[in-house]
Amino acid sequence: MRREVDFLVIGTGIAGLTFALKAAKVGKVCIVTKSKADETATKYAQGGIAAVMYTPDTYEKHIQDTLIAGDDLNDEKAVRITITEAPERIKELIELGVSFDKNASGQYDLAKEGGHSEFRVLHHKDQTGLEIEETLLARAREDSNIEILENHFTVELITQHHLGMYVNRRTPDITCFGAYVLDRKNNSIDTILAKVTLMASGGAGNVYATTTNPPIATGDGIAMVYRAKGTIEKMEFIQFHPTSLYNPTEKPSFLITEALRGFGGILKDINGNEFMQKYDKRLSLAPRDIVARAIDNELKISGEDHMYLDCRHLNRNQLIDHFPGVYAKCLTIGIDMTREMIPIVPAAHYTCGGIKVDEWGNSSIINLYASGECSSTGLHGANRLASNSLLESLVYSHRAFIDSSQKIKHVSFCNEIPDWNAEGTVMNEEMVLITQTMRELQSIMTYYVGIVRSDLRLKRAADRLSILERETEELYKHSVLIDKICEVRNLVKVATLIVKMALERKESRGLHFSIDYPKVIDTEVNIYSPED
Ligand code: SIN
Repeated sequence: MRREVDFLVIGTGIAGLTFALKAAKVGKVCIVTKSKADETATKYAQGGIAAVMYTPDTYEKHIQDTLIAGDDLNDEKAVRITITEAPERIKELIELGVSFDKNASGQYDLAKEGGHSEFRVLHHKDQTGLEIEETLLARAREDSNIEILENHFTVELITQHHLGMYVNRRTPDITCFGAYVLDRKNNSIDTILAKVTLMASGGAGNVYATTTNPPIATGDGIAMVYRAKGTIEKMEFIQFHPTSLYNPTEKPSFLITEALRGFGGILKDINGNEFMQKYDKRLSLAPRDIVARAIDNELKISGEDHMYLDCRHLNRNQLIDHFPGVYAKCLTIGIDMTREMIPIVPAAHYTCGGIKVDEWGNSSIINLYASGECSSTGLHGANRLASNSLLESLVYSHRAFIDSSQKIKHVSFCNEIPDWNAEGTVMNEEMVLITQTMRELQSIMTYYVGIVRSDLRLKRAADRLSILERETEELYKHSVLIDKICEVRNLVKVATLIVKMALERKESRGLHFSIDYPKVIDTEVNIYSPED
């Protein structure tokens, strides 16, 4: 099938939906999602949205907290834009119907998380993401200018490369004309021509064996933009959430929100002793990179499989009222968190780098915008401050809308784009080729590219990934496409970018910690490989 739409949006999380709802006021919008529309990382966000709502909080305090957490690798302009535009964007979200908890005096009940100097996290119990996702999706479904295509997997972005022109990373005018999209039900590859495309496809937590991300988080957008010769940066900064529920057979790992530590939960070792005083004066509420490294170190020293989060001293009723989701989940594995400590381990949680965008969400490819976890705006630097990511999506999707709604007036469809050519491909009969590649990939990344890194481990990872990449590209070229082949191909590509950028960073900064370069250096590291 061939379609023409003004705006093509890839992804149905907060970034894609808030952009789509605005874009629908000026043109036809098609949103594609590889799974069901509500299966996004947004839905699983527990903590909330950080924003300055009342005194004694100030923009400046939130800005400084973001810069400190980001280990000074943030783009300060992006930080200031995001934080000062937050109240306006949050007001819009509330007008769309999203409800945030209030206290008895009618003010928003603000939570605190690691790295924040004030209480500033708006939340809906411990299910903020679910509240946002359901509300935005309901609004999008009501809008006659928005079409949502579920079970549609975006395979490749369309550029002049598909007109037979040679494109490399130095080509100055690479232009996006839409995307080739696999309709999973009909097994056909559709051509969707678009004047403007927004990549909002989320992160890549599934490069690791243990992640809080849903299975859909396979780095598709980042890999696609890289293959289309767009600029990707800061992929070495993978955030491990310090506290996922230790339950080895469960995938994805269940998140134990950092707001629980903001509420008074304390990290303890296997003997029930506090340990964070050895690492940081902010104790259990230090920024995530520090807490995750501390837990990793305690696990290595003790040889244990998990540490604990202790909430037993907190008010039982308030605990259950504020964290009903965590309480119910712990009960399912026989833990009453009001009486017993919660076993926790760090898990891959957030991709801080990604598709490099400017202050209006423009990627390096003309007419291609990016927002949300797949993008790199400069807000997070070397380590994202907790609950800054939903906010970043709101701000940058709005900015992408403002910019693209002007630009679109001067863009026309590129009708010369050919349909997908599947000649010479055959049905892959051996799923084991894909599942085993996935296992190998996750094992390489988990053991060689985790919280603490070294050149030796990174080089081993690079060598092994190059074999997986060769094999996967071969499989991709000769197979009738199915989503699983595309996903594993994307994950392998993203993993190679993480390792490559980690090897290039000869320092320890934020989330990237190398035993070979324990100090921070001043010079900025090359942002991407200009090899092709
Ligand atoms: C959490 O609730 O701890 C996660 C929030 C976030 O990742 O920002």
